[in-house]
Amino acid sequence: MSVLVTGGAGYIGSHTVVELLNLGKNVVIVDNFYNSDKEVLKRIEQITGKRPKFYQEDVTDKAALINIFEQETIEAVIHFAGYKAVGESVQKPVEYYHNNLMSTIVLVEVMKMFGVKKLVFSSSATVYGMHHEVPFVENMSTSATNPYGYTKVMCEQILKDVSVSDNEWSIVLLRYFNPIGAHESGLIGEDPSGIPNNLMPYISQVAVGKLEHVNVFGNDYDTPDGTGVRDYIHIVDLAKGHVKALEKANTTKGTLIYNLGSGQGTSVLELIHTFMKVTKQDVPYIIGERRSGDIATCYADATRAWNDMQWKTEKTLEDMCRDTWRWQSQNPKGYAK
Ligand code: UFG
Repeated sequence: MSVLVTGGAGYIGSHTVVELLNLGKNVVIVDNFYNSDKEVLKRIEQITGKRPKFYQEDVTDKAALINIFEQETIEAVIHFAGYKAVGESVQKPVEYYHNNLMSTIVLVEVMKMFGVKKLVFSSSATVYGMHHEVPFVENMSTSATNPYGYTKVMCEQILKDVSVSDNEWSIVLLRYFNPIGAHESGLIGEDPSGIPNNLMPYISQVAVGKLEHVNVFGNDYDTPDGTGVRDYIHIVDLAKGHVKALEKANTTKGTLIYNLGSGQGTSVLELIHTFMKVTKQDVPYIIGERRSGDIATCYADATRAWNDMQWKTEKTLEDMCRDTWRWQSQNPKGYAK
């Protein structure tokens, strides 16, 4: 029996595959390398000593997915595959809706055909929208401010409806806060294409000399130092949350929703200064305008994940900075040769 991991060559997917393999699980990856690299598979093997079964396919391709389910004995699925850039989703809404919704719908159709009814889904704290007080709790209403966010809200709704229609399903919706860091081997990490949209890869690319300075998007927010506050979570803690979610799906039916965050807020300037302190690298920054669509503060109430799954973050902000830097400095060009 295997766990099918869609998007298993991506940033969160690859770290989750490592945790699953380390626990002795059989893993089958399906990935189209849209935002990832073949090299990831080698690195996973280097870390774990095991090479997961791999299919280079698009999850929106139903025939391809049916073929995988025919070839393999799949017991559960973790669905990471999807487009994830907020800004790009505003430019290419139809592509985002098509890809993120169709992959989820096709996946559920095929799972149903094969009687596989355990699914862990990559959602996002973005579904809390702009109008709630922090900390964000799972029972708050959901909304979105951009097409990417709407795809997460809609996929959550589709999956909730699936489990209402058929009580054999176990669906776990994981709402990620801000994943950063890398595997402590420095062999896998985040490898954004082009100029990074997110803060941590931007910081590490400045530190490694690829970019000149960090643009801090506003210092006039209602936060302790005026810069945006987020709940950063080490990618390995996040990956372990998926292992816990799979265990939960094995014992509980229906839809379960969990925040995966630390419950701690960190400002942009705190993150930059912690990175400089831990890595002893200079990270010049310039205070600029706010980025449209950003909220001042976002952090999780992570008590439900602890109460239900005994999962909580274990790594510190220092660990996140040190591990990001190890990955970035050992792979200044990411996975590219
Ligand atoms: N920031 C900068 N400069 C940058 C990039 C970001 O100052 O170059 C600031 C942002 O304004 C924000 C903080 O750093 O205050 C974090 O920004 P990120 O872009 O790293 O992350 P976001 O919180 O905006 O978004 C992330 C994911 C989304 C997800 C969201 C969920 O990228 O996919 O968290 O809360 F939807």
